[in-house]
Amino acid sequence: MDLKPAPYFRHKFTVKKPIKQARAYIAVGGLYELSLNGQRIGDHFLDPLYTRFDRRVLYVTHDVTSALQRGENAIGVLLGNGWYNHQSTAVWYFDKAPWRNRPTFCLDLYIQYTDGTEERVSSGRNWKTALSPTIFNSIYTAEHYDARLEISGWDSADFDDKDWKNAIPRSAPAGKIVSQSVRPIRKTLEIKPVRIIQLNDSIRVVDFGRNISGVTGIKVKGAEGTEVRLRHAERLYENGRTDISNIDAHYRPTDDTDPFQTDIFILSGKGEEYFCPKFNYKGFQYVEIQCKEPIKILDIKAYFVHSDVPVKGKVNSSDELLNKIWQATNASYLSNFVGYPTDCPQREKNGWTGDAHIASETGLFNFDGITVYEKWLADHRDEQQANGVLPSIIPTGGWGYEWGNGPDWTSTIAIIPWNLYMYYGDKRPLEENYDALKRYVGYLLENYPSGLTDWGLGDWIPVKSRSPVELTSTAYYYTDVLILSKMAGVLGNKEDEKFYADKADYIKNAFNQKYFIPEKAIYGSGLQTELAVPLYWGLVPKEYKQQVADNLAIRVKSDGLDVGLLGTKAILQALSDGGHGEVAYALASRKTYPSWGWWIMNGATTLFENWPIDAKSDISMNHIMFGEIGAWYYKALGGIRPESAGFQKILVKPFIPRELERFSVELESPLGKIVSGWEGRNYTLEIPDGVEAELHVPKEFVGGSKVLKLKAGRHTFKMEP
Ligand code: BGC
Repeated sequence: MDLKPAPYFRHKFTVKKPIKQARAYIAVGGLYELSLNGQRIGDHFLDPLYTRFDRRVLYVTHDVTSALQRGENAIGVLLGNGWYNHQSTAVWYFDKAPWRNRPTFCLDLYIQYTDGTEERVSSGRNWKTALSPTIFNSIYTAEHYDARLEISGWDSADFDDKDWKNAIPRSAPAGKIVSQSVRPIRKTLEIKPVRIIQLNDSIRVVDFGRNISGVTGIKVKGAEGTEVRLRHAERLYENGRTDISNIDAHYRPTDDTDPFQTDIFILSGKGEEYFCPKFNYKGFQYVEIQCKEPIKILDIKAYFVHSDVPVKGKVNSSDELLNKIWQATNASYLSNFVGYPTDCPQREKNGWTGDAHIASETGLFNFDGITVYEKWLADHRDEQQANGVLPSIIPTGGWGYEWGNGPDWTSTIAIIPWNLYMYYGDKRPLEENYDALKRYVGYLLENYPSGLTDWGLGDWIPVKSRSPVELTSTAYYYTDVLILSKMAGVLGNKEDEKFYADKADYIKNAFNQKYFIPEKAIYGSGLQTELAVPLYWGLVPKEYKQQVADNLAIRVKSDGLDVGLLGTKAILQALSDGGHGEVAYALASRKTYPSWGWWIMNGATTLFENWPIDAKSDISMNHIMFGEIGAWYYKALGGIRPESAGFQKILVKPFIPRELERFSVELESPLGKIVSGWEGRNYTLEIPDGVEAELHVPKEFVGGSKVLKLKAGRHTFKMEP
């Protein structure tokens, strides 16, 4: 388990007849790269995905028909640690995970011959193993590679493996071995440096011009034994060196052999040499190349790495800042979608539940991410305790059952299945997660019978004001119980539907009794989060909704933005829905502190974790948690919301800010493309066959302020002269 180098495995076999088809199935505790006859199989990165390894292990299927040859063949496997054998030490104790072990795999290669016969080549004792030149690999920190240890031809048939040892059989890490039916992680984009600055003889700093989750590949020439270090960072010190002090805060190294986000490449001295990590990724914009010996850098590129989910939505406008915020939101979303939703790609790579449900609509409007979420919900079920409790990070090595896991975070188990249902029209996420949600809600009802709960972290990283944790957590308690009732309704369970609807009402009443002040039409002391959260999650009594929204608008106009994570989810939409679209737009397009625009004005290409760009702590520069703005463009400006599951019925309530000349959202719904946008004096709504829209014609247009029922087609409206 503490042995550092990654192991190679190889096996030789003979193919005697013409092949019709061949498939390799490989299940791994850890990570792998598979090769056949010296050729790498597939283009996935970091396979298989991270799971709670003692509950579920994933296998990946590869079509290897064309990689096999008549006669002698060799199959090769290189195993990486991934989250299964976390050797780096940090505050979440992944190194102490109960399932931690040396990586392991099981492979079956099924060959179908053209004559109808079949053969199976399987991993076993007769396979050979040796250590590889990947002398260290940590999903969390970096990878070290010693090219002097390369074993030429190790995965080809004519290689002599007499000095290799026999593989040792192991039992599977978990009884459940499941197909990885998920969009894979890939290197999706190659990025060239925008600048390389040589600071002195031994240090060069490469700027890739944008912040990403990913890896760098470097081609160099130098003498044997030369050590090249590649330190990855999101920002620079004034002297031009890379600054990782914002992202190594939770790292607890025990010595100096595993520097944070720093790959180590030792050259063999044999001509041009290439290195790119296989079992790690990082969050960075800059790479500092450190090397004391003279070397020639022939090439260096960065690769954006994330779950390769197809693009589903597009936002475009005449406002450059709006476009840039949308792009930065998507860049942070994808940087935090590397097999499972994460908080940040550098400091933690943790599946923080709160960040994920907040960002889920932004994700679902823009990308086809359902398979990643389905798998992550399976992780939820794997991690759920018998009493219903979920940990704050999923998957986990055990950390997070006692900190940060109140309903404001772990409502993922309600909100994400419901969003999948609404955005895709697929009932399966409801069926699959119904029992888990019921157990979770059962725990809340049993432990918080008053209807109020202060279990949670609250409005994380607020601009300045702190709203009561009980207010925000109770809003999520209500949401979970309400979603459970709605799920029961969809699944035809009338009894549960009624039971949980009554419970939800009860929670809403308790909430309003404690926090609502009818004379003032405010909640608590009237902070932005205190007003926006009940509005957004539907806790405000109907007759007071408008007044509460008006009070929120007054507060925003006087104070500017003053919310944290839970407030950002609610504030823009609460303002828009309350008839204060201009106020929402002013916040969303603001260029000064505190705002999304402030980050962009300061050169950000991703969203930050904190409002001040020079915050002393909690300042990852690639966090998705403030990313709801990406969904708001669709829901409030484009005005598109699914009224019924899968966008069969949509509500379209576009809002046209005075100063926004041109704007459009395009969305690939399950039934086809929906477009809502305007240019100059024309507003257009395009809907595909099978979709019915209820359009609230914006007041500026002929026939404005009317509600129209529209069917498939392109509908255009002209502005009043
Ligand atoms: C993470 C957040 C997360 C929070 C919860 C932080 O360290 O980066 O995004 O939600 O912890 O407390």
